[in-house]
Amino acid sequence: MDAHLVLKPRAVTIGFRKGKAMGRKGRVHVGVARGRCMGNYRIGVLPGDGTGREVALEAQRILNAIEANTNHGFEQTVIQCGGQHYMETGEEWAEGSFEFCRDEADAIYLGAIGYPGALLPNGDLAGGSVILGMRSGLDLYANLRPIKLYEGVPHKVHGRFTQIWEPGMVDMTVLRENTEGLYHSLLRRSADRAQGREPYEPPSMEFPGLQGEVAYDPRPISEHGSERLIKMGFDIAETRNGAPLDGVKRVSCIDKSNVTRGCQLFRRTFDKVAERYPGTEKDYGYIDAFMQWLTRSPESYDVVVTSNMFGDIATDLGAVLQGGMGMAASGNIGDDHAFFEPVHGSAPKYAGMNKVNPIATINSIQLMMDWLGRKNGEEELIRIGRLVDESVADHLRDGKGLTYDLGGNASCSAVGESISSRLVAKLSEEF
Ligand code: IPM
Ligand code: MN
Repeated sequence: MDAHLVLKPRAVTIGFRKGKAMGRKGRVHVGVARGRCMGNYRIGVLPGDGTGREVALEAQRILNAIEANTNHGFEQTVIQCGGQHYMETGEEWAEGSFEFCRDEADAIYLGAIGYPGALLPNGDLAGGSVILGMRSGLDLYANLRPIKLYEGVPHKVHGRFTQIWEPGMVDMTVLRENTEGLYHSLLRRSADRAQGREPYEPPSMEFPGLQGEVAYDPRPISEHGSERLIKMGFDIAETRNGAPLDGVKRVSCIDKSNVTRGCQLFRRTFDKVAERYPGTEKDYGYIDAFMQWLTRSPESYDVVVTSNMFGDIATDLGAVLQGGMGMAASGNIGDDHAFFEPVHGSAPKYAGMNKVNPIATINSIQLMMDWLGRKNGEEELIRIGRLVDESVADHLRDGKGLTYDLGGNASCSAVGESISSRLVAKLSEEF
């Protein structure tokens, strides 16, 4: 059954058990968007912590704009969650929320997870059931992180705004493995918690020669996990225009295969998958050297595939090239499910100030449209994703109304309004 063909009920309440003492606990707040067409897609909106709550409103503004100006409707279910929610209610999210995301939602938007001092009794990040629980529990094996520099975006270095990299020379997509590697144990524990299971603990190990207390995180890398990620990388290269330098379709395998066995398997798997794509150039790099090339010659990169922790670190540096974390969007993608989130995190310092850049969020909705369109064979949604991109590009090129991180003093909502009204104009012209 095609999920998008089902007319879904206007509102849903989940996680509520009759007879349970509720307090502020255990109930999912439900918000339904208004628009002329309801219910084609059901979207879980998880604002989370800190500034995640502000940017989530901008995600909703874009969804509402698309709904009001096309025949694509979005039923939005807002689920409160995260570290602050945990401090207030004793729950990372209401019971039934994971199941809603797994069984009901066609796509999910997540604002940010992380609240100062919010830790679970075992020391894990409170809210981890949400972000890490979904990554592992929904088998979202690829973390897609485009790094693209738009015209009009300066770089903040030494506290000054200058143009270091050139727009047009930075346009790559990094695919970070999202279910294994150094995160594996934490991911499994978080997914177990999200599903009410006994949390996984890795077996104890001896480390000869070490003294005193020892803490460790196993870093398993599987052929299967690598294969599906790398394949997605080659498939994405087919949809792109190649590297800015030469227009050549290229997939770069970034690892540390001179040192770790997991990376050796990753690279062997890369070579096997690459054989199926003779029209795409293979490229290799060690993660340490890649950090230099990423900054010095980003124009030679098209698609990059890498393991979990390397991808986490490399994409924060990559964000600098695109104007900072406020510009970095992402998609956590599996075969059946996906959630989309800005990479910047909850930025508690700026929470509640209507100050942060909503573009990472708006571009996450762009990725959501592209993913929904490709998954459901809806060309129009792919086109709508492109129009979101053009609206962001127009806003930035105009140079007015930038948030503080780009050297301006516009508010989060003002930038959101500017981009969404540009989008409305484009949509009403075309649809
Ligand atoms: C990210 C974040 C997360 C990660 C944190 C919040 C667990 O840094 O999405 O990049 O490390 O993956
Ligand atoms: Mn990160």
